[in-house]
Amino acid sequence: MMESPLHQQVHDKEGRPIPLDLEDTTCVVTGASRGIGKAIATELGHRGANVVVNYHSSDTAANTVVDHIQSTNGKAMAKAADVSDHEEVAAMFEHVRESFGPIDVLVNNAGITIDRRFDQLTAHDWSRVMEVNLGGPFNCTKACYEDIRSSDHGRVINISSVIGQTGNYGQTNYAASKSALFGFTKSLALELAPHGSTANCVAPGYTRTDMVDNVREDIQDRIRSKIPLDRFATPAEIASVVGFLATKRSSYVTGEIINVNGGLNG
Ligand SMILES: NC(=O)c1ccc[n+]([C@@H]2O[C@H](COP(=O)([O-])OP(=O)(O)OC[C@H]3O[C@@H](n4cnc5c(N)ncnc54)[C@H](OP(=O)(O)O)[C@@H]3O)[C@@H](O)[C@H]2O)c1
Repeated sequence: MMESPLHQQVHDKEGRPIPLDLEDTTCVVTGASRGIGKAIATELGHRGANVVVNYHSSDTAANTVVDHIQSTNGKAMAKAADVSDHEEVAAMFEHVRESFGPIDVLVNNAGITIDRRFDQLTAHDWSRVMEVNLGGPFNCTKACYEDIRSSDHGRVINISSVIGQTGNYGQTNYAASKSALFGFTKSLALELAPHGSTANCVAPGYTRTDMVDNVREDIQDRIRSKIPLDRFATPAEIASVVGFLATKRSSYVTGEIINVNGGLNG
């Protein structure tokens, strides 16, 4: 494959060149300082995209992701904003537009858990998870909807979870926020379709990030024993599916829920 004059080609772990199929594409990834979001931002950067690494409070971690993308001549910037805060989100997107132009791809990845059995769950536990996991995708999509609609390959990619399909003990709030993303995505897909833009959901299974590392070791073992592939995903395995959805090659895929869960179907 020809070297791009703009970007340095990066190779995957098996030494295969990663195609530079996102050059001149601006992508915003929420919650990209750590875990799955970090892997997604890196994947999109390696494919040549201009990447916005959104985060909440981990400045140093977000800047490390930016430095890594820039080390392959990619364009990237870190931008702090609480996705649950409508005004912070609007300001972030204005700043992105000034630096990179209109947004083509939005990856709504930022998410949190506040796990408690329902009888102990407070109204705050419920609303905070909803504000971030569902309000965040609303705020971010709202702030760049016109860009996505008019892009020649506009993409909204929502990161849901297998828990939105199966439910989980102690996660009524999280499961509700994640299954709500399915309805949000399918409806958005119908409204974007006449403009040639798409909306899809990726539903990861258990993935090796802080979110899973914080689960008790014996519970992790119990979960792993139920996964047909007998292991947790790596963040890069989720990111490679998002990478495909972000490119023009996914042009006829919309309104889908793509499970990346090692066979753990609900
Ligand atoms: N890990 C799994 O097993 C798994 C499975 C299925 C689905 N998912 C979903 O995948 C997504 C990423 O999960 P993860 O495991 O990578 O999480 P993680 O390691 O805990 O990282 C969460 C990311 O979200 C950011 N974030 C949190 N609250 C935010 C807010 N209010 N505004 C902006 N950014 C915020 C964090 O930023 P700071 O670093 O600044 O705090 C961080 O970058 C989530 O939506 C999660 O529900 C995860």
